[in-house]
Amino acid sequence: MASEKLSEAKKAKNDEFFTQYFDIEKEISAYIDCNPDVFRGKTVLLPCDDPEWSNFTKYFAQNFERFGLKKLISTSYATKSKNYKIFYQPTLFESTNPQFDQQKSDIKGKIFTLTGDRTGDREINVDDLEWHYLAGDGDFRSKEVTKLRDQADIIITNPPFSLFREFLAWIMEGKKQFLIIGNMNAITYKEVFPLIKEKLVWLGNNYKVNAGAMFFEIPEAIANLEQVREIKADEKGNKIFITRVQGIRWFTNLDHNRRHDAIPLMTMAENLKFSKHKEIRGKDSYYKYDNYDAIEVPYVDAIPSDFDGVMGVPVSFLDKHNPEQFEIVGITDRDNNSGMKTKEYTAKEAPNYGDLNRRGVIKIGNDYIPIYARLLVRRIAR
Ligand SMILES: C[S@@+](CC[C@H](N)C(=O)[O-])C[C@H]1O[C@@H](n2cnc3c(N)ncnc32)[C@H](O)[C@@H]1O
Repeated sequence: MASEKLSEAKKAKNDEFFTQYFDIEKEISAYIDCNPDVFRGKTVLLPCDDPEWSNFTKYFAQNFERFGLKKLISTSYATKSKNYKIFYQPTLFESTNPQFDQQKSDIKGKIFTLTGDRTGDREINVDDLEWHYLAGDGDFRSKEVTKLRDQADIIITNPPFSLFREFLAWIMEGKKQFLIIGNMNAITYKEVFPLIKEKLVWLGNNYKVNAGAMFFEIPEAIANLEQVREIKADEKGNKIFITRVQGIRWFTNLDHNRRHDAIPLMTMAENLKFSKHKEIRGKDSYYKYDNYDAIEVPYVDAIPSDFDGVMGVPVSFLDKHNPEQFEIVGITDRDNNSGMKTKEYTAKEAPNYGDLNRRGVIKIGNDYIPIYARLLVRRIAR
């Protein structure tokens, strides 16, 4: 029970991680490279973003003109409603504004909109944002924010980590274009994988995500030494605490050039002869699963270029996936979503039959060896 509480608290805390400006800049530039007009004439909604904290709001406000945006909407979530309470003091921007209301400040969300140069200084930036309190707390699931979703063309944010499934479902329900941050584990969720299989969702450019990790800013109030990797200072000299989170990726349905690059691969014969992986080099063949009509490929760079059947590949394959090169036919899990499963184990065969039925299994002698989650993929014939 105590450990459950601790992990709940940790999850809630992780909801308050903020994306760094240059990570946003780096990712967005991939979509602009692919289509310079990707944002032209569009309304962009940032639904978990208070400009006080969010670099998404700052970035899109600063690039409003360059991208040719029609409207930028950013909404924030009320401090009182947050899972993890951070001591919050209204900024001068809010407290000196005639609309400031001490009572509302804590319990209401806010909406910030940008449509052009409001200040008349011939520049469009965060100073041109107009704001007011929302009727509710700014929960993305509320009717009020859902209405904003429906008006928007593209939804962009780093949503609360603990609500990733719900957040993606909310976007899909609105049939919107999107770019959001989430954990790589989400790929195997039963609510997410079918969207990836159907090519409704894919991984973003994720250029050089540092060995699969991303660095986030954390408010001083929740920063602890165990988490903090670096302390930086912003332009005003305020301390910024940086933490590292493993397995983070951008998820999207916006096109980018990287997903049209084919993975360079060797043939099966070449892999068996020259592969740098000892599990493959010098063998007669790849392992075939005992319970799937597919071969096991333990590394993405060991995928044979000339095999026509189904292959089980690591989930990290998606980082390099080009839909013109391979189709995704399923994932090894309890269900038979791929139609490639050939067997269900029973207690008679193996005491760990439950675990085996959740995975692809290799049989060596009398031993059943369960393999990590694998995507089942097939090359697209030319
Ligand atoms: C991971 S943080 C990221 C913030 C910002 N998008 C960024 O990337 O810097 C997620 C934010 O969503 C807020 N949030 C949590 N639950 C929410 C909800 N149901 N609706 C809207 N925002 C929520 C959190 O308080 C937090 O500020």
